[in-house]
Amino acid sequence: MSKQDDLKRAAAEAAFDYVREGEYLGVGTGSTVNHFIDVLAERAPEIPGCVSSSKATTEKLRAAGFDVVDLNSAGALGVYVDGADEANAHLELIKGGGGALTREKIIAGAARTFVCMVDASKRVDLLGRFPLPVEVIEMARSSVARSLVKLGGEPELRPGFVSDNGHPILDVHNLEILNPIEMEDAINALPGVVTVGLFARRPADVLIVGDAGGVETVK
Ligand code: A5P
Repeated sequence: MSKQDDLKRAAAEAAFDYVREGEYLGVGTGSTVNHFIDVLAERAPEIPGCVSSSKATTEKLRAAGFDVVDLNSAGALGVYVDGADEANAHLELIKGGGGALTREKIIAGAARTFVCMVDASKRVDLLGRFPLPVEVIEMARSSVARSLVKLGGEPELRPGFVSDNGHPILDVHNLEILNPIEMEDAINALPGVVTVGLFARRPADVLIVGDAGGVETVK
């Protein structure tokens, strides 16, 4: 495992403390979540099943022996565990580097507690160095891209990519996100936007940071 993988694994182990036996567990997407699923498989908590944010996560959870159910049948969701591409001091996030932002945002919004795991390299003062993913309806991709330019960004169509929901993603470079809530609202208001990967209206409740010196938990 690489050094960064060690940090992700350490964060994933710490996130396991938030798993509640007897409750459905929301599970995100990405390499950090893959470590978390490995930890789940090793420790085998008694949970009725999981709500998954992507086809890839569903496959990995099922291979590890966990039942995966639809969010609609899980009832009120307790804990959601996921990674992020950037996190600021207010636990506002950029997510969607793996393209699963829409289902991730739905599950985060439905969960009582959103636990986010990152390695230290993802902590930033200002969100936006990581290109902001925006999932769009195909027929709106040019009009949304023009509006994103007016907001100060440089959108780029993610090549050869279609989300689990069948939509393209625009990755917006060089966007100055001084006010994440305002920016999230502005992008959400553009016709044809499915989801913006800014998680400011629904930030994480707990940020677990894997760092060379150990794991830090920020609330
Ligand atoms: C998936 O769409 C993303 O939101 C991931 O949560 C994010 O990209 C973090 O991924 P890694 O854990 O692979 O860095």
